[in-house]
Amino acid sequence: MNHLLGFFLLAISVSLSLAYDVSHFYVCSTDYVKKERNFLCQVSKFNMNVSLPPKADEFFNCCMETSDWMSRSNKALLVDQLAKDMKKYGFDNRSAIEKVGIDCRREMGSKINGRGYLLCFLTDRRTSKGFKNMLKKKEGEFFTKQSYCKSS
Ligand SMILES: *[C@@H]1O[C@H](CO)[C@@H](O)[C@H](O)[C@H]1NC(C)=O
Ligand SMILES: *[C@@H]1O[C@H](CO)[C@@H](O)[C@H](O)[C@H]1NC(C)=O
Repeated sequence: MNHLLGFFLLAISVSLSLAYDVSHFYVCSTDYVKKERNFLCQVSKFNMNVSLPPKADEFFNCCMETSDWMSRSNKALLVDQLAKDMKKYGFDNRSAIEKVGIDCRREMGSKINGRGYLLCFLTDRRTSKGFKNMLKKKEGEFFTKQSYCKSS
């Protein structure tokens, strides 16, 4: 019985891992905003100009923090990890990432948070294309599968 269960769980985890990497956006969505399907559908289409449900900020902070792109303690951008992840998916320009991060922080001041950084990297022409491309691949479970856009 235990063997059978173990095999079953192994088979599930293998098939999941073959499909997509762990999606921090997906995991964070189930933690904070699971029922906000329309909001999540729009975000998965990179449409960030939507009304925000309660816990939206917690959700975006969770995405940035669990990806190791933003410090949990002071909301600093963790440029090394973000540059490494974007390079893996074809965008090799650390200095562009650093500059967009600095401008973003300057613009938002003490209000800087996960959502702020995401908006900056998605809209700034220096990073927009590379950032979207990275999310579609690295976070395929959320940004490519777009399961929140399908009726459940
Ligand atoms: C965001 O949405 C508001 C209201 O729906 C609209 O007036 C505004 O033009 C939109 N902004 C962008 C950048 O799309
Ligand atoms: C990196 O990005 C900056 C800012 O957009 C740009 O000026 C520079 O030419 C880019 N470097 C490379 C190697 O693409």
